[in-house]
Amino acid sequence: MDLVGELGLVSSEIINHPELEGLELKGFDSSAHRLEGLIREIQDESSGLRLVPVGSVFKRMQRLVRDVSKQINKEIALVLIGEDTEVDKVIVDRLYDPLVHLVRNSADHGLENPEERRKAGKSEKGTITLAAYQQGGEVQILIKDDGKGMNREAILGRAVERGLIGADEDPDDETVWNFIFDAGFSTNEQVSKLSGRGVGMDVVKTSIQDLRGRIEIKSQQGLGSTLTLRIPLTLAFLDAMVVRQGNRLYAIPVDVVSEAFKVQEKQVTTTAVDGSEVIRVRDALVPVLRLEDFYQEDHDHQAIVGTVVVLVHTSHGEVALPIDEIVSQQQVTMKPLQGQLKQIRAGVGCAMLASGDIAIALDCERFFS
Ligand SMILES: Nc1ncnc2c1ncn2[C@@H]1O[C@H](COP(=O)(O)OP(=O)(O)OP(=O)(O)O)[C@@H](O)[C@H]1O
Ligand SMILES: [Mg+2]
Repeated sequence: MDLVGELGLVSSEIINHPELEGLELKGFDSSAHRLEGLIREIQDESSGLRLVPVGSVFKRMQRLVRDVSKQINKEIALVLIGEDTEVDKVIVDRLYDPLVHLVRNSADHGLENPEERRKAGKSEKGTITLAAYQQGGEVQILIKDDGKGMNREAILGRAVERGLIGADEDPDDETVWNFIFDAGFSTNEQVSKLSGRGVGMDVVKTSIQDLRGRIEIKSQQGLGSTLTLRIPLTLAFLDAMVVRQGNRLYAIPVDVVSEAFKVQEKQVTTTAVDGSEVIRVRDALVPVLRLEDFYQEDHDHQAIVGTVVVLVHTSHGEVALPIDEIVSQQQVTMKPLQGQLKQIRAGVGCAMLASGDIAIALDCERFFS
């Protein structure tokens, strides 16, 4: 995999070699183009070789469910769907811990005990479903229970206690569910064998984000909850828009880029109360996030009018990133962030560019955490 990555880098190094500049190269360009096509194909094929079915990690949940079911005296059926769906082997291995946690939560917090279920007109046996689907370059993994759903009051109450929100606020469900990702958050009064330490969901979220993935919660009172993980098929390559801001390069996953444009005078709206900038895009007001502020670099603020911004969409809505230039759009070879770089905010990897330069691959979701 590494070699295939290197191959791509070296070939573009040759094709873009400065010594070729100004030369009349009949036929070179078309050969170069064919070479690039082939290398891209090899990259896709070799990522394919590393794909394994998620079934292996799903099956390991069967045993867990059996054990948990005995421990907490709940009858539980585990249904597996889409076990043949394939993901990168590295990813499958790293899905085990998050899945254990989510399945335990479904069993412990989601499913009612047999008596409660009977009273609610449900079958005594609760069902946990694990499903996997491929959708484009990503895989969706669903962990679903037919239990009582998230307890809105309990979660809100805890959130107020923890100062995450004011006592008089009434946020929408999505916001409420997301409080469970706060470190140390638990609605349990006491620590049981299975739950209550509240160390869970925040760790699950970070491990999924480290896989360049997302996690989403849907829940309905009395009907149960569904947690959806969206994870890329492979971590080795990333389709990215590479941009330059100041003296840094950033690789933004093309999936999250809505558009890029030069800001017009008429789009600039008076800055919000707290001094933060917003621009008008069609009917919406989009907050501006300056990467140099985010990374606390010394600089002079450039006026927003006439600047190119990249609009990215996140679960917190759209955000406009002012940049100096769009460098390219390419499939970049990804390397993990190591050592000091691990701590880089919103960084999800190190992108090796065809030019030989290195860019920080951004996880735009993490601009907010
Ligand atoms: N499937 C689910 N159904 C209903 N509520 C859930 C479900 N999953 C999580 N929750 C809620 O989210 C809270 C946080 O979950 P988390 O796993 O982080 O902590 P915990 O289970 O209480 O403790 P532990 O860290 O020991 O697992 C739970 O206390 C519970 O209120
Ligand atoms: Mg838990």
